[in-house]
Amino acid sequence: MLPWFDTPSFPLFLAPMAGVTDSVFRRLCKEQGADVMVTEFVSADGILHRNQQTREMVLFQPVERPIGVQLFGADPDRLAEASSAVVDWVRPDFIDLNFGCPVNKVVCKHGGSALLRDCPLLEKVAKTVVRKLAPFPVTAKIRLGWDRPSINALQTARILEDAGIQAIAVHGRTKDQGYSGEADWDRIAEVADTISVPVIGNGDLRSANDIARRLRETKVRGLMIGRAAMSYPWIFREAKEFLRTGVVPPEVSLEQRWEHILRHCRLAIAEYGSEEHTMASLRGRLMAYSKGMPGGRQLRSELQQVTKLAQLEKVREQHLSQLREFAWTADEETLALVK
Ligand SMILES: Cc1cc2nc3c(=O)[nH]c(=O)nc-3n(C[C@H](O)[C@H](O)[C@H](O)COP(=O)(O)O)c2cc1C
Repeated sequence: MLPWFDTPSFPLFLAPMAGVTDSVFRRLCKEQGADVMVTEFVSADGILHRNQQTREMVLFQPVERPIGVQLFGADPDRLAEASSAVVDWVRPDFIDLNFGCPVNKVVCKHGGSALLRDCPLLEKVAKTVVRKLAPFPVTAKIRLGWDRPSINALQTARILEDAGIQAIAVHGRTKDQGYSGEADWDRIAEVADTISVPVIGNGDLRSANDIARRLRETKVRGLMIGRAAMSYPWIFREAKEFLRTGVVPPEVSLEQRWEHILRHCRLAIAEYGSEEHTMASLRGRLMAYSKGMPGGRQLRSELQQVTKLAQLEKVREQHLSQLREFAWTADEETLALVK
């Protein structure tokens, strides 16, 4: 059993998200209580071709442990070889196989969720990687199936378990759904009820309450949080406190949010160099952070223009002072955020 599932612990995973969960963001989520990390997915071919950018994507700092490197591909031997190269190179705590990516570029090469409709190949991929790395742990992340009529999460989970996969994260959507509709937690629960290896539930966990509810209502052994952490990384800490005390702590203040956003940017600039390039690449992240902050539309349009850290600091000052100035017209919820 992977040690982070040892009872009574109930690990919260930060979901792998391409272009989002780099080392900087993972460290920030770790500080807020995320227990287990998975890198964004990297291609087995990229690793084998010694593609520098791909190789940099699997680097991490010791503080991020336990951490898995997620790989995708469709050729069992190449995937096994790439996994072995990654293990030798960065010694992660586990290798995670991606069987859920819905993106055409991946699926048309039979990678990601394409393997959900080719169970013989899925089995071969899992078995070959597990055999090559043994006893090093291999985990997997799946979706419910290719599309609604062909949902087969139970079948794929059983295949993966029999192949020696040590934990399975289930995102409760089909490939066809992409990120739309609601995650189907009844199906996730069914998988968690049926198989023996730990199942990690994933999809639409947006609050401490959601997390406590899924823990209470299903037999999952861990939960994985993606998009909610992009806007509100404090979700991990709040969920843990709620699980421990039964009380949801108050939301972080607007000041704290801004402090966190600026720190994220500073750490990213320190990591990647070029301030302008880094700030441009962080624009999507700023948009995500602005979700749930008062003054949304105006704030977002200002964040779109930001190219330097100093500009972002100015946006913060203006945002906070405007909100203080107009606090007398604000509703209670907004006031609580500004305080
Ligand atoms: C921007 C983005 C990138 C993603 N990249 C990956 C990835 O590299 N590997 C993977 O297994 N899932 C990836 N996912 C899916 C997430 O891990 C997760 O399964 C999905 O977002 C549902 O969880 P959530 O509702 O908590 O966001 C990505 C999702 C998003 C939004």
